[in-house]
Amino acid sequence: MKRYGILCDGGDAPGINAAIRAIARTAFEKEDEVLGFQDGFFGLVNNDVRIITKHSVSGILPSGGSILGISRFNPFKDPKYIQAIKENFKKNALTMLIFIGDRDTISIANNLSKEGIPSIVVPKTIDNDIWGTDFSIGFDSAVGIISYALDNLHSTASSHHRVMVVETMGRETGWLALFGGLAGGADYIIIPEVPYDIKDVAAHIEKRRKEGKNFSIVVVAEGAPLPAGKDENVEKDDFGHPINRKRRVGYTIMEELERLTGIKSRTTVLGYIQRGGMPTTSDRILATRLGNAAVEFADEGKFNGVIGVKEGKIQFTPLEESAGKIHKADTKFYELARIFF
Ligand code: F6P
Repeated sequence: MKRYGILCDGGDAPGINAAIRAIARTAFEKEDEVLGFQDGFFGLVNNDVRIITKHSVSGILPSGGSILGISRFNPFKDPKYIQAIKENFKKNALTMLIFIGDRDTISIANNLSKEGIPSIVVPKTIDNDIWGTDFSIGFDSAVGIISYALDNLHSTASSHHRVMVVETMGRETGWLALFGGLAGGADYIIIPEVPYDIKDVAAHIEKRRKEGKNFSIVVVAEGAPLPAGKDENVEKDDFGHPINRKRRVGYTIMEELERLTGIKSRTTVLGYIQRGGMPTTSDRILATRLGNAAVEFADEGKFNGVIGVKEGKIQFTPLEESAGKIHKADTKFYELARIFF
């Protein structure tokens, strides 16, 4: 009999509950036990833990958020936290930890493996920036929200003849802006992976106007560089990531485009709405497959890895290989999107 401890770390993403359910139900099938730590590493450090039963995971497949809560907390900030993790791992007689997390979780898990704490990471993040999987849990749901927003913004942009700048999340990568823009018919997409010149964007909008298109939708990833010459001095979080909401890239680009084109412009920052709500069917299935695979690998004695899906097949990538790497947006999709600009 094995005993798994689950926790959720990072920002939430639709489909986390489906993953918790898949881990638990697969473990129960093997007569293993599952414990859930509340609010991520806070729960593990403070031993805020409960037994997960069939009943506790019943009805959660379609729900957003996380029944176990979630947090961004780096236990390596202080050795006392690592000591507490080791003690609680022992106290709860755990075989292994299963983290539902992101890039930061992978780094933490990799460091914990060197302290003798075994784990598996199930990748979730709307950013889709995890090394070791083509898609992470939550990405498809967030893309759906962006494309829905673009559909709505089209009609108001068109009736007011405006330039509408839409800022998406995505941290250092442009996956959300790119796929959201592709699905929602963006007229220009600005992402960190593809250099841009604001004057070219303005010229493109002017060209559209001359062709009779009196509005434009420009989708901007929050991590895209600010137009040349603007201050890039930005506050960092606990993990060293820029706090993108403070960069206001969508507003800066909108102001520049208004100045260069003379067309009335507006910005919509989609923000946390992209992380909320029910998971799509794709995310439910991805979460179910990844959660199930995590327990199957653990059962075979495989651990210290990230579970992923590559070209449709389940993959196991060692933590060491994934830690510190970024799964950048594939620019072949940018070339596709460009056809529709
Ligand atoms: O990692 C997901 C994400 O939503 C990023 O896209 C965004 O930059 C960040 O989290 C926001 O973090 P927080 O929830 O800490 O404000």
